[in-house]
Amino acid sequence: MEEAIPSIYQKSSRMMPKTEFYDAYGAAHPNVFGMRDEEMHSIRRRHESHSFSTSYIKEMEQYLDTNIGILKEKIRRHSLQGDVFDLKKVLHYYVIDVLGELAFSQTFGVQEADDESRVPPVVEHSLLAAVTGSWPAMTKTLKKWLPIVPHKGLQKLFAGRKACADLASVCVQRRLGVLRNGSPDLGAPERKDILTNLIKAKDPETGKSLTQTDLETEAFGFIIAGTHTTSATTSLLFYHLLHNPEYLAELVNEIDKNLPPLDNKKPAYSITEAETLLPFLRDCMRENFRITPVFTMPLARRVMHPEGLVISGQYIPQGSVTMPFTITHAYGEKTTISSIRIGGKFRK
Ligand code: HEM
Repeated sequence: MEEAIPSIYQKSSRMMPKTEFYDAYGAAHPNVFGMRDEEMHSIRRRHESHSFSTSYIKEMEQYLDTNIGILKEKIRRHSLQGDVFDLKKVLHYYVIDVLGELAFSQTFGVQEADDESRVPPVVEHSLLAAVTGSWPAMTKTLKKWLPIVPHKGLQKLFAGRKACADLASVCVQRRLGVLRNGSPDLGAPERKDILTNLIKAKDPETGKSLTQTDLETEAFGFIIAGTHTTSATTSLLFYHLLHNPEYLAELVNEIDKNLPPLDNKKPAYSITEAETLLPFLRDCMRENFRITPVFTMPLARRVMHPEGLVISGQYIPQGSVTMPFTITHAYGEKTTISSIRIGGKFRK
């Protein structure tokens, strides 16, 4: 199974392109996630690559410290009072504010407000897209007609999608305003963030900037891609540690042994410190990704190689749609297989 991931996802996108499944995430104005046009995707990727590098995160650490401070204070208060509290929710609020800083140079203020209604409803969009995308021949039709079906549950999903799109739009307008008019009360124009890097990006050939629609659709993607994934992963890490006290103790010991205690002047350890001095933490994080991956949607790719491909000893002919698959039996045992769906007629 392990070799299936690089074979499917790290091959050149010409050889294993994204399938129609991704159209459900926004075919008319796709963001980098849903973009199936290879050239457009690679240009957009280039525009975003620095924003997703470790060196960029290091530059941003100073802005994350305030949010870490709020998170720590919340947990400390609950602990002192002996409260039973929802760690998953506390981490979720923290991650949303951090995403705000990284992507838009603004906090969403969810931690301070402690208000669920400020949480962007991202699950709704992901659910809609994953379900409609699983029926590629009907995705377009479903996207057109489902929004007008008078079904309460469906309407809630579309309302959630719209709320995220509206939020993205507000973030873009706000940041454009700051950069154009320099409104210091709304944010520092000199600050960098993922969106600002995109606003300043130019097409390598035409020299054109991204349109406001492009920016809004990318901002929507950041909200969807960057919140639930990260908070669920962090919650699961704590879940595993709390259910395996011997590993938790080993991790605490590693931190105590290798790093000085934190205080008001130093609210958090840097990435460099964590990366170089906490190898056991890195192993725990990797193991968490392995046993409880949060991104379990069928990210289908198409085999383009004329001779087909062999993945995990299984021959997959050209034109097949493929994805790694995990089956969880009712009694909890997990079997991981490489599941292949052979497409109908092969169309380029
Ligand atoms: C633990 C956290 C995260 C996980 C597990 C995760 C997982 C994934 C996966 C599986 C993909 C799809 C790759 C594909 O289809 O080939 C993806 C794409 C993407 N993610 Fe994340 N992600 C996480 C955090 C984030 C964050 C914080 C952001 C920030 C905004 C982000 C932005 C993106 C973008 C822009 C793409 C599209 C990349 C492309 O197609 O080139 N993700 N992510």
